[in-house]
Amino acid sequence: MERPKLIMHNSISLDGSFTDFEVNMELHYQIAGKFKADANLIGSNTIKIGIEIYSGDLPPENETDFQKPDRDTSLPYWIIVDTKGITKGLLHACRSFEFCKDVIILISKQTGQDYIDYLKARNYDFLVYGEKHVDFEQAFNVLMRRYAIKTTLIDAGPTLTRVLLSKGLIDEISLLIHPILVGKKQGKLLACLNEQNKNINLKLLSHEKLDGNLVLLRYQVQQR
Ligand SMILES: NC(=O)c1ccc[n+]([C@@H]2O[C@H](COP(=O)([O-])OP(=O)(O)OC[C@H]3O[C@@H](n4cnc5c(N)ncnc54)[C@H](OP(=O)(O)O)[C@@H]3O)[C@@H](O)[C@H]2O)c1
Repeated sequence: MERPKLIMHNSISLDGSFTDFEVNMELHYQIAGKFKADANLIGSNTIKIGIEIYSGDLPPENETDFQKPDRDTSLPYWIIVDTKGITKGLLHACRSFEFCKDVIILISKQTGQDYIDYLKARNYDFLVYGEKHVDFEQAFNVLMRRYAIKTTLIDAGPTLTRVLLSKGLIDEISLLIHPILVGKKQGKLLACLNEQNKNINLKLLSHEKLDGNLVLLRYQVQQR
């Protein structure tokens, strides 16, 4: 089935942790912008934790939050995967972000009606594919045809990234390596992504030494 090109872009510690260190956010998103993706695919936990950490107090919803924004068409969509509706009450913080064309939500047949009502009342586009979790193959095909999305940047933690990698849906891996070792604080490690224990061959596309002792590595995922 035809689908957009998917690029994983993550900031990690040298020992492969996604969390528990200070990410150079400015550089992370500066590099992300260079991919010129038509959409960012974002995990629901990443949205929830991101709003808690970086947005401070959640602003109250106002009238314009119920309408689709009228923004530059070259901006990327934010596609949020959320079958459990954990972003209910938070999405206006995403939609109001000036560099987001609009928010599209991916849900499944098990998503609760109260979340669907919340989305409908605010004119959010949503796609229902999959029984429990999202069926990405089908959802991506529709996103490509209906929204002309050809390249998608994944902005997610290890959970969503692992699902996409194990389904063979990731085409490119971009890692911004931070000069720090975090040790065994939790399981949010790069090493946990390849749960099938089958080797995935990678081809180096580029390597770059950046200010602040950071290194950017880009790999193409090879056919297994
Ligand atoms: N360092 C970095 O570059 C970076 C980038 C992004 C995030 N983060 C950090 O990572 C943490 C969040 O990561 P996380 O791993 O907890 O969450 P996450 O990847 O952001 O979100 C979990 C997502 O995975 C989906 N999912 C889970 N199981 C699935 C399955 N079997 N099939 C399809 N979809 C499935 C969930 O959808 P459902 O709705 O179906 O459950 C949900 O949308 C935060 O601390 C954040 O700050 C770091």
